[in-house]
Parts: sequence; C-alpha cells; structure tokens
Amino acid sequence: MNDIIAEIDRAAAAAESRAASAASGADVEAIRIDYLGRNGLFPALSRRMGEIPAEQRKATGAAFNGGRMKIQAAIDAALERLSAGSAEKDAIDLTLPGRRSAAGRIHPISRMADECAEVFRRMGFVAVDGPEIEDIYHNFDALNTPMDHPSRDPQDTFYFPDGRILRSQTSPVQIRVMETHTPPVRIVAPGRVFRRDTPDATHGMNFHQIEGLYVDKNVSMADLKSVLQRFACEMFGPDVKIRLRPHFFPFTEPSVEYDFSCVVCGGKGCNVCKNSGWIEIAGAGMVDPAVFKAVGYDPEVWSGFAFGLGIERLAMLKHRIPDLRLLYENDIRFLKQF
Ligand code: DAH
Repeated sequence: MNDIIAEIDRAAAAAESRAASAASGADVEAIRIDYLGRNGLFPALSRRMGEIPAEQRKATGAAFNGGRMKIQAAIDAALERLSAGSAEKDAIDLTLPGRRSAAGRIHPISRMADECAEVFRRMGFVAVDGPEIEDIYHNFDALNTPMDHPSRDPQDTFYFPDGRILRSQTSPVQIRVMETHTPPVRIVAPGRVFRRDTPDATHGMNFHQIEGLYVDKNVSMADLKSVLQRFACEMFGPDVKIRLRPHFFPFTEPSVEYDFSCVVCGGKGCNVCKNSGWIEIAGAGMVDPAVFKAVGYDPEVWSGFAFGLGIERLAMLKHRIPDLRLLYENDIRFLKQF
C-alpha cells in the first residue's frame, strides 16, 4: 500500500458515487474530465509512477488500471441509465401529436378525366384508349388535314426520326375506332397530347384532351348540342349555358367552337372570362364525309358528330387554378388540396 494506491481507491469510490447520482449527460462528461481527461487525476497519477519504489510498481500499476476501469464502467452505466430513462419518457408521452401517414391520392388531372368519362358514360359513351406515339396517317391524313396545315409543321408537332410523332390531339383515336368497328359508334377517348408550345400559365408542351365521337344514322347538330349542354350541366351545375360559334376544323363540317357561360361570374363578366361572360371549352362539329371515306364508312348512310375538350382547362375552372404549371410541378402542398 502506498499513497498513490490510496488515492486511486478514494477517487474510484468518489467517481462511482458521482456517476450513480448523475442527472444528465453533462454531469457524466464532467466526471470523465475530472478523472480520465487529459488534465484529470489519472494522467497526473501516472506521471507520479516514478516516485514509486520498484517493488511496489506492479501492485500500483494494477491498482491504477483497476481504478480506471471501475470509473469507466461507472460512466458507461450512468450513460445507459440516462438514455434508457429518456426512451421510456418518449414512449409514454401521450401529448405528442400523432404521426400522419402520407396517403397518395389521384392527381387532379386524372380525376377530371375520370369525371368527364363518367358523365359521358351515363350518356352511353364507352371510354377507349389510343397510342400516344402516332403515325402521320392517323393524326393528320385520315383526319382530312391539308398538307400545308400549320399543325403538321415540326415547329408545332414532335416528330421522331422514323417519321412517327407524339400525337398532337386525341382525334386519331376516332380513326382507330372507326377502322376496327362498324357503326353505330359512341366513344370518348381521354388522353395526353403533345405540342411544341412555350410553356406559360395556359400552355404546356403536353396536356390532356377528351375526344368524343358518335356515329349513327340521322345524327344531327341538335344531338351534338344536347350532349354538350348535358355535359356542361353535369360538370358545373344546372345554370350553365352553352353557345356554339362557327369555326374550322379539317375533320368536321360544319365545325364549331363551344363555350360555357362563365362558371365564375355566371356570365356577368370577370377576369376569368376576360369580361366576355363566356369561356371557350372545346372544338366540335359534324364528322366530315372525307373522314368517313378514309375509314370505309359510307357518308350517304352514316352521320356523326365529334368533339374535343381540354381537360386542364376544365380542372382549372372547376378548382379555380390560376396557372396550368401548378398541375405539373407536383408540389405536395398544392396536390394535398385535392
Ligand atoms: N382536335 C382538336 C384540337 O386539338 C379539337 C377537336 C375539334 C376535336 C373538333 C374534335 C372536333 O373531335 O370535332 O384542337
């Protein structure tokens, strides 16, 4: 026994009792610094080993290592006690707000497309699909589009090197359906279309349309108008009026553009309808006999109407969305609202 061994025993006992009552990680760290830290007791004692007579060195070294290990063990035990205590506290904290699990939901564009298809389904239309990569025949030629029509220009339509294109409209689905089915035909075709537009608040490089086609005997413009009126009321309520304005499309004759009375101001005039009281919704018309000839239908026997609606447009009106790009950025704060 010597002074150093006595001091080691005292220090170990003191450190153990401090560790047992330590109330925080900082308390424990203070113990480590006092005894084992660079300027703590044990390094200082180790420097005094030279004073020890040779025959006591072995015993002193053993006491030194033993004391150091005891203190380290007391520190480890204290840390474990403190962390277990805090885990227990977390586990029973009933005041913490629950964690909401993030549920996915259907994108507003898909929802609007589904809603439109459902309204037309109730009127007897069947929803069909067509390819997004189209050939020029189905997207333009069979739809009676003149060779010099601007929509054929590579400035407006995306061409693949092999001459195929990304469809610029859902109208080619009309052709694909008539090529493979005999009349009567009553379909809608929702889907994505592509155009070389510079994106802004109302234009994107791709957007969605829903195409409609009805072919039977004695189909008239009155049928077209009643279907579009019914659609307007189902979508925006019984007070919505519609109007048809003369227009031109290669695949219909006569052709019209189709407006809703403004669903925001009811027709009085506001910034959404640019004070006109009307909002342009779609193109439509009676199927051109040249289109019937392209698919092998006899235009003397069959007649029909077609229409194409913009889905983003309808979603923006319905939800008062001011900028088309919000629908594509997929910002979760925006999407969560639907
Ligand atoms: N395909 C036309 C467009 O993208 C919209 C359209 C107009 C479709 C008249 C039709 C129609 O079926 O009859 O601008």
